[in-house]
Amino acid sequence: MSNNKRLRIAIQKSGRLSKDCQNLLKQLGVKLNLREQRLIAHATNMPIDVLRVRDDDIPGLVMDGVCDLGIVGENVLEEVQAERRNSSASFAVKKLAKLDFGYCRLALAWPQELGAQDKQWFNGKRIATTYPEILSQYLERENIDASVVMLTGSVEVAPRAGLADAICDLVSTGATLEANGLMQGDTILESNACLIQNQELADDDKLALIDKLMPRLRGVKQAKE
Ligand code: PRP
Ligand code: ZN
Ligand code: MG
Repeated sequence: MSNNKRLRIAIQKSGRLSKDCQNLLKQLGVKLNLREQRLIAHATNMPIDVLRVRDDDIPGLVMDGVCDLGIVGENVLEEVQAERRNSSASFAVKKLAKLDFGYCRLALAWPQELGAQDKQWFNGKRIATTYPEILSQYLERENIDASVVMLTGSVEVAPRAGLADAICDLVSTGATLEANGLMQGDTILESNACLIQNQELADDDKLALIDKLMPRLRGVKQAKE
């Protein structure tokens, strides 16, 4: 558990969510000095520390109480929860809010030259993904007998590199699929960024600070509508 007196918030260091997370913190009135390429940034006007880490590490940091809050994509949250359900690690978190940025979908895709395919085509095929748990659950649900190839990055080049027949990856604008000659199929999961809190957080000062920030968060969301 974090015995630090300052509220610790984990955000993505670099990637799709980073800019929006930094903007959100700014709109919440958290003054940060993010100039240095540091792991931790201390807020100057509130007892808040921001940890900048890989998005995939955020759910675990919050579940284990290393950080009190985290901003992460529902896709990453769901994958880590499924992964941890199979082990003895804690997987519960409190979802405080669904945020209005970071929308993407986890979808199947395959080489364009193969043309349109139905679900049955995936039988006996290899599918590369960074989300093996979510994909396996989908395959089971749909009764598809395919094998899952886990890749932590560059999933979109897997078919061309001969590592897999198809992929299951995040699609936002679709530019990555297009640039790699891939055709988009079924959506397995739709996702937004969300704000999560450690379930066992009991520090009164930290909870009071969160209570102060939540109405501001709702205000920011309303202002955008
Ligand atoms: C996702 C995905 C693609 C890209 C798709 O990566 O893996 O690379 O976004 O977006 P597009 O449809 O707009 O081209 P992400 O930025 O989430 O980062 P990560 O793979 O490093 O976690
Ligand atoms: Zn990632
Ligand atoms: Mg990527």
